[in-house]
Amino acid sequence: MSDDTRPAILVAGKMNPRVLDRLGNRFEILHVDSADPSCITPDIAAKVRGIATFNKVPAGLMDALDRLEIVANFGVGYDGVDAAHAATRGVVVTNTPNVLDDEVADTTIGLLLNTLRRLPAAEAYLRAGKWVSEGPFPLSPLTLRGRSVGLYGLGRIGLAIARRLEAFGVELAYHTRTPRSDVPYRHHTSLASLAEAVDTLVVIVPGSDSTRHTVNAEIFKALGKNGVVISIGRGITVDEAALVEALQSGTIAAAGLDVFENEPHVPQALIDLPTVSLLPHVGSASVATRNAMADLVADNLIAWFETGEAITPVEETPFKRQAR
Ligand code: DGY
Repeated sequence: MSDDTRPAILVAGKMNPRVLDRLGNRFEILHVDSADPSCITPDIAAKVRGIATFNKVPAGLMDALDRLEIVANFGVGYDGVDAAHAATRGVVVTNTPNVLDDEVADTTIGLLLNTLRRLPAAEAYLRAGKWVSEGPFPLSPLTLRGRSVGLYGLGRIGLAIARRLEAFGVELAYHTRTPRSDVPYRHHTSLASLAEAVDTLVVIVPGSDSTRHTVNAEIFKALGKNGVVISIGRGITVDEAALVEALQSGTIAAAGLDVFENEPHVPQALIDLPTVSLLPHVGSASVATRNAMADLVADNLIAWFETGEAITPVEETPFKRQAR
């Protein structure tokens, strides 16, 4: 074993290079191929006090690391980090809230317009020379004009989406477990009631057991044949098989998806549907926003070991560092 006294941070698989640059010489960085606990050698187990991750830390990995104090997740969603287990171990989990809200909201609006107005298909038409050979691109059957939009989830990103949608002059409503007192939009106590009331559903809830497949056949039926679903939170919230069926049968009109149940694999049936607009999970994926997220991952680790307090701990682990 080396006599390096710097805190050791484990990186399992890939990590944004800016995180590693920012951690610099303050930390010893140990790399393993994956988050599988079988990658942890006795030497690594004896050293690691922190993990920097892209949303993948199972309970078994934490349990292989006796000295683990902090898991710093790159991303606001941390459904792949077992935060409940971390809480039982006294391990703090951090995420990257706030710095990506506006970027993800911008992407949501782009995806909504792409879905309704078929802008990617129109561009592909021009690039293929069809404007010249076949004449104008066909009119889009759908429009944002006159729509009523329901937000499933109204946290920081949901609010940023709602603020943008206000400027588009559409009606807004939302479903959350607890109504907000700071917004003028109509609250629905159930997702089914929201889906009955609107024709466009923007899905922005975190992925968890309680949201899994909550956007399902019943919800598509309630949205109706003019219905549009935009999914930008986590893939598991939408029942993809039921979505394919709803689109193929005309139960709803269209969907725009940035997130999928089994990324990076997207069902061929979705790819084949002309009424679907698809993005490869790029909600926050600009250089500027990913840099801000990288800085927050690094700053959480630095703050934890230098001040004893993380900057953005998740709600399950509101811990301060004990003398260890
Ligand atoms: C997040 O922050 O959870 C995003 O999905 C990552 O792009």
